[in-house]
Amino acid sequence: MLLRVIFFGGKGGVGKSTLACATALRLSEKGKTLLVSIDPAHSLSGILKVKVGDDLVRINEYLFAVELSAERLVEDYVNNVLSAIGEMMPSLKSGLKEYARHVKHSPTALETAVLDGIANYLEADFQFVVVDSAPTGQMVRIFQTAKMVEGWFSFLEKLAKERQKLETFMGRSDKVFDLIKKRREKLERLVRVLREKAIIFAVANEETLSIEEAFDLEKYLKEFKVYRVMNKWKSAEGDFLKVGYLQAPYGIERLSLLDVEELLKVIV
Ligand SMILES: Nc1ncnc2c1ncn2[C@@H]1O[C@H](COP(=O)(O)OP(=O)(O)OP(=O)(O)O)[C@@H](O)[C@H]1O
Ligand SMILES: [Mg+2]
Repeated sequence: MLLRVIFFGGKGGVGKSTLACATALRLSEKGKTLLVSIDPAHSLSGILKVKVGDDLVRINEYLFAVELSAERLVEDYVNNVLSAIGEMMPSLKSGLKEYARHVKHSPTALETAVLDGIANYLEADFQFVVVDSAPTGQMVRIFQTAKMVEGWFSFLEKLAKERQKLETFMGRSDKVFDLIKKRREKLERLVRVLREKAIIFAVANEETLSIEEAFDLEKYLKEFKVYRVMNKWKSAEGDFLKVGYLQAPYGIERLSLLDVEELLKVIV
């Protein structure tokens, strides 16, 4: 059973990916763990020194990793959803191809697709899912999109319900309503899981801008459990979980030396 989903966010270069890798390694001593990168500029392979790609790879007995391919996700997602809409409104079918081309580049397509990708893994058999994200903006958008697309799917579902009534009246069966209903339920489950099980680490360094971004992240995502983390900590005071400096934190052996104890304490 899923116990925790752990997100690492914060300004560029503060150490999100490094901490995600080190934390996932430690969590895998406690339960089956998945490390997933949603940063289009993936870096897990470089940090772990193990080749990770867009199919799940096994890092150790209880640790798996994957770098989600945003393009592949958007492609699959848009095709799935639009084919359902096409079935619902056949007169639109030819226009949908053109629409699909635009949707793939629309502002929230990527976030929605990434959410869908994460949701699949949350429903798989992991106790911990650790998410490495791109700098601050991506994470805020992901969480906001989660709340927004709920409304969009409720709307689609109402539309599909009307159509189903008509089809039933005409003596035909209609699967579109069920399909859209399933999608909406999946999304609602995801938002619920995020509310109950997500921990967000807002990572900063001893550098003013990165600290400001960590506070911003906390402000934007205040309905969730956000903890500020000071990485490469030397002496700064303040209400932060602290992770010290470790020379060359690459490869599994070195990463296991990174002291992420304060993070683990709030996770389990
Ligand atoms: N605790 C640490 N001690 C020493 N070096 C660290 C530590 N954490 C991270 N680093 C180094 O800082 C650099 C940036 O780390 P990392 O790639 O994890 O940051 P990031 O926040 O994921 O960056 P991006 O925003 O580009 O994804 C890397 O060279 C990494 O090795
Ligand atoms: Mg990174």
